[in-house]
Amino acid sequence: MSRFLILVDRLYKISDPNHQDYGLHLSKEFAFLSPLFALLTYCKFREVDDFARPHSNALDMFNQWLHAHSIDSGSVTLSSAQDWATFTVPVSQAEVMLNSEFHIYHHQTSGRRVIRTLEYSLPGLLTEYIDTIQPTTYFGSGTSENDIGNPLKKRRSGAQSSAASKSSLSSSGSAPNVSSCLFEDDFYLWTPACLSSLYHFDTYIPQATDQNALGVVSYAGDCQNMDDLQAFFKEYKPDAINSSFTVEIVNNGTYGTDCQGEGTLDVEHADSLSYPTPIVVYAVGGEPPFIPDSLSPDDTNEPYLDWVMYVLNQTNPPQTFSTSYADDEQSVPPDYAIRVCNSFAQLGARGVSLLFGSGDAGVGGGSCLSNDGTNQTRFQPLFPASCPFVTTVGGTVGFPEEASGVAPGSQFTTGGGFSNYFSRPSYQSSVVMQYLEAQGTLYPGLFNTSGRAYPDVAAQGNSLHTIEAAVVALLNDYLISEGRPPLGFLNPWLYEKGYQGLNDISNGSNPGCGTNGFTAGIGWDPLTGFGTPNFELLQTLL
Ligand SMILES: *[C@@H]1O[C@H](CO)[C@@H](O)[C@H](O)[C@H]1NC(C)=O
Ligand SMILES: *[C@@H]1O[C@H](CO)[C@@H](O)[C@H](O)[C@H]1NC(C)=O
Ligand SMILES: *[C@@H]1O[C@H](CO)[C@@H](O)[C@H](O)[C@H]1NC(C)=O
Ligand SMILES: *[C@@H]1O[C@H](CO)[C@@H](O)[C@H](O)[C@H]1NC(C)=O
Ligand SMILES: *[C@@H]1O[C@H](CO)[C@@H](O)[C@H](O)[C@H]1NC(C)=O
Ligand SMILES: *[C@@H]1O[C@H](CO)[C@@H](O)[C@H](O)[C@H]1NC(C)=O
Ligand SMILES: *[C@@H]1O[C@H](CO)[C@@H](O)[C@H](O)[C@H]1NC(C)=O
Repeated sequence: MSRFLILVDRLYKISDPNHQDYGLHLSKEFAFLSPLFALLTYCKFREVDDFARPHSNALDMFNQWLHAHSIDSGSVTLSSAQDWATFTVPVSQAEVMLNSEFHIYHHQTSGRRVIRTLEYSLPGLLTEYIDTIQPTTYFGSGTSENDIGNPLKKRRSGAQSSAASKSSLSSSGSAPNVSSCLFEDDFYLWTPACLSSLYHFDTYIPQATDQNALGVVSYAGDCQNMDDLQAFFKEYKPDAINSSFTVEIVNNGTYGTDCQGEGTLDVEHADSLSYPTPIVVYAVGGEPPFIPDSLSPDDTNEPYLDWVMYVLNQTNPPQTFSTSYADDEQSVPPDYAIRVCNSFAQLGARGVSLLFGSGDAGVGGGSCLSNDGTNQTRFQPLFPASCPFVTTVGGTVGFPEEASGVAPGSQFTTGGGFSNYFSRPSYQSSVVMQYLEAQGTLYPGLFNTSGRAYPDVAAQGNSLHTIEAAVVALLNDYLISEGRPPLGFLNPWLYEKGYQGLNDISNGSNPGCGTNGFTAGIGWDPLTGFGTPNFELLQTLL
């Protein structure tokens, strides 16, 4: 068994509430959680880096290769687990090292120029150790005729206006009283106070804010106007006035705090829902490899690998992360997607919960044509939503909540579906099989019935992944304040136990690709997963 499979095996054990090792997260470097556990866990505790570290043969071969090409190993940056190396060489040298010929390719429409090669090769002994080299053969130049841009990754913001309904609701009992959140007709205005009533965390007071934190990941050079943030607090969360967030710059990312106009709703939600839990914004720069399709003719994909490598190198990253970005899975080269997803598993083993949005275009946006040259119509799953090691959040609308889609008041359509890259993990196999059996032979050939199915859970509206992440951060706060480990990789717990603390959403559909999409139902479905959180119930299940 490869070390990575051993790590995944370990990840599933420590994330399974019925396993004796539940919660025994691994540390980056060897460290005991507490002296009390030290003896007990001595034999079980290992470093994550240890599992991910390549065999010494691999590093030897790699170093010999560098040496043979007179590259000083001091100029090579290795990732924390030494499983990813970054170095700069002239194109002429890359051509020699990869036995290839690089050219400058010019994309006519966008004017973008990229340096790529059509093929490359490595010395035979090295190939078995190297997963991927970039930039090499993946192009960011559009080969698709359908230049419609990518609405999925554009954060929806500005929906919440100043029309606040001041509420002092309490969340006793099972049905939340959100009558004061009704804005007009059947349109609800989900202010922070209304969301905390809806999901039953309005009476919870965070205790572990010296240890717990919530991370918000930004790839697009976003910004948050400080005056806007304070105005938001003044209107919706007066006790948070004058609080702020910290920014970590990753890979030369940009994040401004003196921008004009709309800030990002994610930070406002993260801050006001989990206050006074510290918020850390990760501003990530870089361009990942990419395969164009109709939805993303140009490379607007996110450099997830740069982010995850950075966080894996941190000793104490935030316990919970919210990320709103999603790309068509087929536009992400499979080796890159697998590499990123496996790195998310490493973070999960460290006790970090990762929440991603499921997208806002139903079962697929764009033309839904496959980009492998055959032009077949297929539902288009999104990545990282499709990675089995993250928790994916679908969208709801209104009250009582429905899957966001064709329902009145729906501003977007919840993404949901089945991966073509990642097979279905065992934690979800029985509920997904139940769903598929209940549907009969729906949409044959349009989606992959053996793939990882998503979303896992759901929340209201625009900033749904951040709302869900805030709830998880508060659950982690509760656990940490009790001296217990945080939730870590959520899904095995969610599918075994946590689902009982979620409100099942059984109405709605998510049209796309010229179909009505999937239909919500009783239990898990590929629109809202198991449903939306009830903090108080989830707390009792811990
Ligand atoms: C890891 O972090 C240390 C300091 O915390 C830094 O010196 C080092 O460059 C980082 N390594 C990578 C690969 O980012
Ligand atoms: C719900 O709250 C409103 C005030 O916001 C109150 O007038 C109403 O009586 C409450 N309804 C119930 C059923 O408690
Ligand atoms: C916020 O900071 C400003 C400027 O320092 C200060 O005048 C104001 O009193 C503070 N408000 C609160 C609620 O702490
Ligand atoms: C960041 O920008 C600086 C200055 O432009 C440059 O020297 C450096 O190589 C960049 N780092 C990365 C990781 O791109
Ligand atoms: C697929 O679509 C592209 C772009 O319209 C076209 O160039 C190509 O010929 C099509 N391929 C097939 C097999 O139809
Ligand atoms: C369906 O998903 C599996 C992984 O579960 C994958 O191996 C297979 O290639 C996928 N099929 C298609 C047509 O993408
Ligand atoms: C939603 O689903 C429930 C249970 O399946 C059903 O009783 C109810 O009538 C549905 N509501 C709407 C608006 O379709």
